[in-house]
Amino acid sequence: MAQYSRVSGAIGLITLQNPPVNALSAAVRQGIVDTVKRALSDPKVNSVVICGQNGIFCGGADIKEFGKNMSGPPLVPMIHAIEAANKPVVAAIEGSALGGGLELALGCHYRIAHSKARLGLPEVSLGLLPAAGGTQRLPRLIGVPAALELITTGRHVTAAEALQLGVVDMVTDHSTVDAAIKFALNVAGKPLDGRRISTYPCPRQSDLDSLFEEVMQKVRKSARGAIAPVACVQAVRAAATQPYLQGMEREKELMATLFTSGQARALQYCFFAQRAVGRWSMPSGARWDTSKARPVHKAAVIGLGTMGRGITVALAQTGLSVVAVETQEKQFMEAKQAVSGMLERGAKRRGVAPALDKISYSRDIQAVADVDLVIEAVFEDMALKKTVFQQLSAVCKPGTFLCTNTSGLDVDHLASQTRNPELVVGMHFFAPAHVMKLLEVVYGPQSSPQAVATAMQLGKKMGKVSVAVGNCQGFVGNRMLKPYLEQALFLLEEGATPELVDRALEEFGFPMGVFRMSDLSGLDVGWRVRKGDGLVEPGSGQPARIRKGRRYSPLGDLLCEQGRFGQKTGRGWYQYDKPGSRVAKSDPWLHNFLEEYRARHGLVAHRIDHQEVLERCLYALINEGFRILEDGIAAGPEDIDIIYVFGYGWPRHRGGPMFYAGMVGLAKVLERLEHYHHAHPDVPYLQPCSLLRRLVASGSPPVHSWREVIKKLHSQL
Ligand code: COA
Ligand code: ADP
Repeated sequence: MAQYSRVSGAIGLITLQNPPVNALSAAVRQGIVDTVKRALSDPKVNSVVICGQNGIFCGGADIKEFGKNMSGPPLVPMIHAIEAANKPVVAAIEGSALGGGLELALGCHYRIAHSKARLGLPEVSLGLLPAAGGTQRLPRLIGVPAALELITTGRHVTAAEALQLGVVDMVTDHSTVDAAIKFALNVAGKPLDGRRISTYPCPRQSDLDSLFEEVMQKVRKSARGAIAPVACVQAVRAAATQPYLQGMEREKELMATLFTSGQARALQYCFFAQRAVGRWSMPSGARWDTSKARPVHKAAVIGLGTMGRGITVALAQTGLSVVAVETQEKQFMEAKQAVSGMLERGAKRRGVAPALDKISYSRDIQAVADVDLVIEAVFEDMALKKTVFQQLSAVCKPGTFLCTNTSGLDVDHLASQTRNPELVVGMHFFAPAHVMKLLEVVYGPQSSPQAVATAMQLGKKMGKVSVAVGNCQGFVGNRMLKPYLEQALFLLEEGATPELVDRALEEFGFPMGVFRMSDLSGLDVGWRVRKGDGLVEPGSGQPARIRKGRRYSPLGDLLCEQGRFGQKTGRGWYQYDKPGSRVAKSDPWLHNFLEEYRARHGLVAHRIDHQEVLERCLYALINEGFRILEDGIAAGPEDIDIIYVFGYGWPRHRGGPMFYAGMVGLAKVLERLEHYHHAHPDVPYLQPCSLLRRLVASGSPPVHSWREVIKKLHSQL
């Protein structure tokens, strides 16, 4: 809705009202049309101010309306009517002006923003483009290069940057509505011809063709198959080369393709899924809205390896006091320097002072006695972690939450080492921890809802997307990764090359294929774990391809035995110019090695195409996702999808593995799994999970109703 009042005698004040973000629902659009008409026909009104209630101008089109029957007045003519008005219309922007909200403001004759406001055209991140004239007005206002950057990235800008770019006319630290009213009184009666952006010529740009070519190439590369950024470039190109009305036609045409695309559905699903995972629940019935987090003022990190350093930086950057403990002298000195460097670089990028004074370093665990929460990040070794937890339990003040950054060890077992197991949870960060957005918060049967709530809230404060998951080997992300990695190795045994597998996955949209990724993170990490699990046959030369009754590929172990640990040694699945170099090159040695390996084991190479790579790697991973849902380790498909999008490079425009399974069709996923399981009976992962069968049997319901099916399944057990 939109409320209308006359203020200061001659100003028609229109207030958008649709909590929480004043999205442009049908009712709001109708409200705007009606109130603008009323203001323009009121002879006492000289100018109009449009603002939003509750300190937010407008969060854009109502995303919940997408995919439904759209009713109410459309945005484009509504904004045209505002721009064509014969009385000045001023947008008073507080909070956010995003998407349709900014397009509405661009239709106004003047824009005034609060200094804390944020503006942007984020449609691209929802698989769309700004189709209410945004792609045509913004370049006319601020020039093609700046508009291209904002529209193709969806980046939000601060009010200061918006002023500098020319998006807004004035910024205020005081009441924006008061400033806008004053401004509107001043401009009343002044000519408006020079204020209608659609009538502006697009600023001249030299060498337009090469600019667009360059941007298109850049966008295609970073979009990894996403179609919206490409359409955004095409729409802005129309603004730069065609008259306004033709440009609007092009904008509409491009939007029509995007609007009904699977990518837009996937991206909009991700938008809501990201928010849904914040509303976590535990099998005990404890939930986000009933479990109160305890405030954390001071935290500690134990162990300053790669992970500990990143976590320390992330904590200090949120303004918390941090005690950082490292026992090894050499590591201690190196870590101190590294953490300071990371903080300084981060602060420089963000234009703030580095939070160096927030951290106190110690070599003694006693220094953590008075902290509210500890995050342990020592070597991934159960015996060591157990000792550390026993120490922490003795040293810390009562009530301190004890968290472990293990990437897969048993959190319950660690909890059992402490006096208060209810205070123990896992906080599984992803490397580099100050950059990666994902955090798995792992609860065990004894973890208290308050411990989960506190870790979830701390994660949010650190800028992470936190997902609460149950305790099991590998938690959610790494547990699903295992069958995926294994399939990739099996494909090499059967005739594929690392290049072929990686290309298929990269064309699907992963930033890096599985083998390039393994080279980057180091092959030795998994080798050490497999040795610990008793899976590696030491130096036998021709290790068996079966372990514990199931198929096993020793290929990774054989590479490690040769000292090929990946980028750090200059050799892995690929070769590199020198150790540490990042450019992966095809390695004839490896191809020979694979051929010899196949010959030795009597394996006949067959032709493997991209489709087989995708089906085997991705469906194996998805199948494990269904098992995770069945086991109650993740509360819903959204949790899994957000973990994969934010932590594992799953292309967002494909919505996450579980959403993707729905898009492919659950019946098809089931049929292909059955096919591959039949062909590879010694790979139990490929046996379709009963939840998948059940979903198919119940007509493959859409992803948002899976929770109901799972609930029913659990209640029948
Ligand atoms: N349409 C419908 N619902 C919207 C919405 C929109 N454009 N923008 C936000 N919401 C909903 C959210 O889903 C959330 O609902 P929930 O409480 O049921 O989970 C609620 O509004 C609050 O949003 P949230 O993102 O949690 O609040 P915030 O204060 O952190 O951020 C915004 C506010 C506006 C910055 C952020 O919501 C946003 O970026 N919205 C999308 C803007 C956009 O892309 N607009 C273009 C649409 S084409
Ligand atoms: P990552 O997995 O983060 O890359 P490492 O496992 O290499 O890092 O680092 C773990 C760090 O923990 C090492 O610097 C090690 O010296 C440190 N460490 C090991 N035991 C303790 C302990 N009891 N207290 C504090 N630090 C420890």
